[in-house]
Amino acid sequence: MYETLSTEFSGSIYIITINRPEKLNALNKTVIREIGEAVDEVYSNPQIRAAIITGAGNKAFAAGADISGFSGLSREEGKALAQQGMDVFFSIENAPKPIVAAVNGFALGGGCELAMACHFRICSETAKFGQPEISLGLIPGYGGTQRLTRYIGKGMAMETMLTGNMINAAQALQYGLVNHVTAPEELIDKTKGILQQIISKAPLAISKCIAAVNAATGNSDGYALETELFGECFATEDMKEGTRAFLEKRQPVFKGL
Ligand code: COA
Repeated sequence: MYETLSTEFSGSIYIITINRPEKLNALNKTVIREIGEAVDEVYSNPQIRAAIITGAGNKAFAAGADISGFSGLSREEGKALAQQGMDVFFSIENAPKPIVAAVNGFALGGGCELAMACHFRICSETAKFGQPEISLGLIPGYGGTQRLTRYIGKGMAMETMLTGNMINAAQALQYGLVNHVTAPEELIDKTKGILQQIISKAPLAISKCIAAVNAATGNSDGYALETELFGECFATEDMKEGTRAFLEKRQPVFKGL
C-alpha cells in the first residue's frame, strides 16, 4: 500500500514503520507524504485506537531529512520542504488518538523532530537523538528549534543544536526527552503495553486530554520563523557546501557566505 512505509495492526494499535533501512530511514518527500497519509488513516479509521511510529532495521528510527534531495533547492523550495514536514508533524501532534514514537536507533534531524511530534517517546538503549543540521550549514526545519527547547530546556537545546552533538538514551531519559529506555528487543512490546493501558480508557476523554495537554505547550510563531529561516539557509553557499560534503563523505569547509 505504501512505497516507503510498512504498516500492521496489533489488535487496535496501528504500527507504522519507516522502511528504508539502507538509507537509515531518511525522510524524503515520499516518506513525509506517506507518513501524512498513514496519520490520516489513524484519524479516520475507527478500528485504530492508537499508533506507534518506528523505523525498520536495528540502526535507525530515521537519520533525518534526505540530504540527497537538498542540492539545488532554492530558498522558496527549501521553505516549502520545511512546510510539508511541519504540516505532517502538526497532524501527528494534534491527532485525537495517541501516537507514540518507538525510537530504535538514530533519531537525527527530521527523525528527532518526527519523534518529538509524537505524543511521547520510548527508546531502546541504542537510541541516539540530535539535531545535526548545523554541520550541514542548516537549521532544523520540522519544528526542532521549538519542540526540543520545550522538552529539554533552552540551555541544553541550544547546546545540542549549535554543536550538533548527539544525545544518548540515558541522557534522553535524564532530560525528559523520552519516558522509558528498554532493551532493543523489548521496545515494541513496552510501547504496546503502555498503549494498551491508555486505550482501555474512554476514547473521547483521551482525545480531549491530548488537546488540553497540547494547549499547555501552545503553538508559537516560532514554527513560522523556523520555516522561513530554514528556507534562507538554502540561499547560502555554506549550506550547499555542507550538504555536498556529507554526500561526498568529507568534512565541509564553511566560509560564512
Ligand atoms: N539523508 C540521506 N542519506 C542518508 C542520511 C540522510 N539524512 N543519513 C544517512 N544516509 C545514508 C548515507 O548516505 C549512506 O548511504 P550510502 O550507503 O548510499 O552511502 C547510508 O544512509 C548509511 O549511512 P552512513 O553515513 O554510511 O552510516 P554511518 O553509520 O557511518 O553513520 C550517521 C550514521 C547517522 C551518523 C550518518 O549517516 C549521518 O550523519 N547522517 C546524517 C544525519 C543528519 O545530518 N541528519 C540531518 C539531516 S537535515
